Amino acid sequence: MSAQTIDDLPTPALILDRAILNRNLKRMSDRLRDAGVMLRPHLKTAKSIEIGRRAVEGHDGRITVSTLAEARYFAEGGFTDILYGVGVVPSKLPAIAELRRQGINLRMVTDNLAVAQAVAAAATGRFWPQSGQSAGGETFSVLIEIDSGGGRAGLPYPELPGLLDIARVLHKAPGVELAGVMTHAGHSYHHNTPDGIAAVAEQERQAIVGAAEKLRANGIPCPIVSAGSTPTAMHSRDFTGITEMRPGVYVFNDLDQAFIGSCSAGDLALSVLASVIGHYPHRNQVLVDAGALALSKDISAQEFKPQVGYGTIVDAPAQDMAVIACSQEHGFVGANEPIPFGNLPVGSRVRILPNHACITAAAYDRYYVVDSELDGGKSVVDVYDRINGW
Ligand SMILES: Cc1ncc(COP(=O)(O)O)c(C=O)c1O
Repeated sequence: MSAQTIDDLPTPALILDRAILNRNLKRMSDRLRDAGVMLRPHLKTAKSIEIGRRAVEGHDGRITVSTLAEARYFAEGGFTDILYGVGVVPSKLPAIAELRRQGINLRMVTDNLAVAQAVAAAATGRFWPQSGQSAGGETFSVLIEIDSGGGRAGLPYPELPGLLDIARVLHKAPGVELAGVMTHAGHSYHHNTPDGIAAVAEQERQAIVGAAEKLRANGIPCPIVSAGSTPTAMHSRDFTGITEMRPGVYVFNDLDQAFIGSCSAGDLALSVLASVIGHYPHRNQVLVDAGALALSKDISAQEFKPQVGYGTIVDAPAQDMAVIACSQEHGFVGANEPIPFGNLPVGSRVRILPNHACITAAAYDRYYVVDSELDGGKSVVDVYDRINGW
């Protein structure tokens, strides 16, 4: 790659600090290894083979994805134990079967009896009428999704309605492996103290271990007990009974993770490089060429600090400088004191820290990699590609 600095890059551009990335990866990997839990990183955040390979170092290579496009991309990159972590539907079984025929142990999740029956039917070669296709005599690996309190997908704990019915269909079907149970404590994001997050982590643990024990008590094996979000992986005080954790956003971290205490302010590896495109002193604002598409309109970080808007400015020349409004390609940057416009001439560049790294990164097809430990992050030392879409 020809020598480049971030001043040569087109804007907006996605900048990844390799030094911070490596620290984030090591912290989580060491923490889970020391706890005796396997790491199955959720690569929906990074969507990058290069980052995925580094993330699983010291573990056994298992990963999580959120789309079939990611599953195909990581399979091509050499990953062979892949959990597709979004509830499956019968129409996706042929695509899953195709990857499994290539030797990829692509596992899926469901909390639905009709889907479990469809998987069983496809495995035994019977036609599934609603999908219009037959996967035909395939093998499948399924985890049952449990709701540990987040209120998104999964059978709600402790009632676990229908758990045994779904489990028996999968367990009895020839060609189907009931691999275990999984949950994601998304509600951990609404706490900003270690104790608060640790309490959610314990709730997550009890729910998923409770579901596994219910299966085992009924003679159904449950080898994988899978949990995790970044906050619960960082703050859990007891992993007993959990076999693997699936944090994702920890690879980069973001303003939301910093505010809730999953990481420190210095642990944010991702930023958006933008150009200043206008000065508006009468309203104390500059415009940048990073708007809603380049940053996303995710407001998760506003829950604990409303003034972050859609992202904050790195090394800002005024207090609380942030993108306070967005149109498609314009970001409106304001501050809590007069902006020294001379410090930010039109054409100069700023870096913006994202509220939610996973969503911001989704607009880009590559990371421009810098290294703050080499030269303060000025040179572009590498470029990593990403997979987007479905
Ligand atoms: C099913 C599932 N597992 C794991 C994760 C990773 O959690 P986090 O983004 O907090 O790292 C997510 C994130 O949305 C998820 O949906």
